[in-house]
Amino acid sequence: MTATEAAERVLRENWVEGEREGTFYAYTRPSPSRYPWQWYWDSCFAAIVWRRFESRRPRLELETLLAAQEPDGFIGHTVFWDRPVSLSRLPFYNVTSPRAHQTGTIQPPLLAWAWRIAVGDPRAEPRIAAQADWLAANRDLDGDGLLWIVQPDESGLDASPKFDPVWGRRSCARIGFPLLVHRNRRLNFDARRIRERGGPVLCETLVNTLWSLSLQALGRPSATPALVERLWDERRGLFLDEAQPGGTRPAIVTWASLAPLALPDLPEGIGRRLVEEHLLAEGEFLTPVAPPSVSAAEPSYEPGGSRGPLRRYWRGPTWVNSAWLVWLGLRRLGYEEEAARLAGGLIGAVEREGLREYYDPRTGTGLGAHDFAWSALVTELADPQ
Ligand code: GLC
Repeated sequence: MTATEAAERVLRENWVEGEREGTFYAYTRPSPSRYPWQWYWDSCFAAIVWRRFESRRPRLELETLLAAQEPDGFIGHTVFWDRPVSLSRLPFYNVTSPRAHQTGTIQPPLLAWAWRIAVGDPRAEPRIAAQADWLAANRDLDGDGLLWIVQPDESGLDASPKFDPVWGRRSCARIGFPLLVHRNRRLNFDARRIRERGGPVLCETLVNTLWSLSLQALGRPSATPALVERLWDERRGLFLDEAQPGGTRPAIVTWASLAPLALPDLPEGIGRRLVEEHLLAEGEFLTPVAPPSVSAAEPSYEPGGSRGPLRRYWRGPTWVNSAWLVWLGLRRLGYEEEAARLAGGLIGAVEREGLREYYDPRTGTGLGAHDFAWSALVTELADPQ
């Protein structure tokens, strides 16, 4: 089976349709056994690939996210369409009540950008602008156009080691995480209240990269200049998050430091430094298959997946969405050979191992959940349009 055939098979098998209290829903489950609900950014990635196989499904998928929207514009990180979150998962899920229809937290806001790629002009759908307005009103804590997150999992990069110095024992998949969820639940996941109570809150690179892409898709002023101004570290040649209170800038190098490569308006000199000093550096992000989620130079690098009984995501293996986002930058900047090499590594891994949640960047061995939908993004690399 080619990578594209495998992608189409998984998208079709993971598709689900139904009705909740009179509301029709249709979306791609990230992985039917492990992730049955609708995850915000997973749906955006799935819609992008669906456009290759079905003309109606990208719109249905993203309209289902919009169907979960609250009257104030908010859309959650996970939407529980068919049944509420199970009791065993409750301590780890960011819901304000056990019967909540969705979480009170966000995920990287790429809806407008995904809509532009997969459906059409997002300005024709006012609910997309309403979500952007909610984000600007509730998460742009400093008024410079950048968004702040209240928990590591709002970045989509749950247990990334870059969050260890920020949240410590209350990071995802650490013993204190339920305490963080519990505290934030009491504060209604309100970023301003959380900051007032001592935070931490984080101005995170990936979230703001995808936010900037969405703003541009909506024809609004780009957030890229503010991202460069606030998070670009000229000395290291990397983007580094900022935590408040305190203004610390943890210097743990993960692929998110390179994510702004996906921005068409990233200054070219910055893009070239990200590529030449990091993405293509042996011992950092240049591995036989595709860039790892954490620099190989970090002591926390665990390319074979996390050790121990807890699943600690984003601590070394390669995810297909992250590889695709940096690959967009390689192509834009004219690194054709390097882009082809990256694509070849991932396509080979998918052909051998199927659509897995993540892959060992040294060998391509498939890891994590099976039949993982957003790994279908490999078709973007196999067949660029
Ligand atoms: C994990 C990932 C997150 C993703 C979710 C569903 O929690 O870290 O990014 O959205 O799984 O696939």
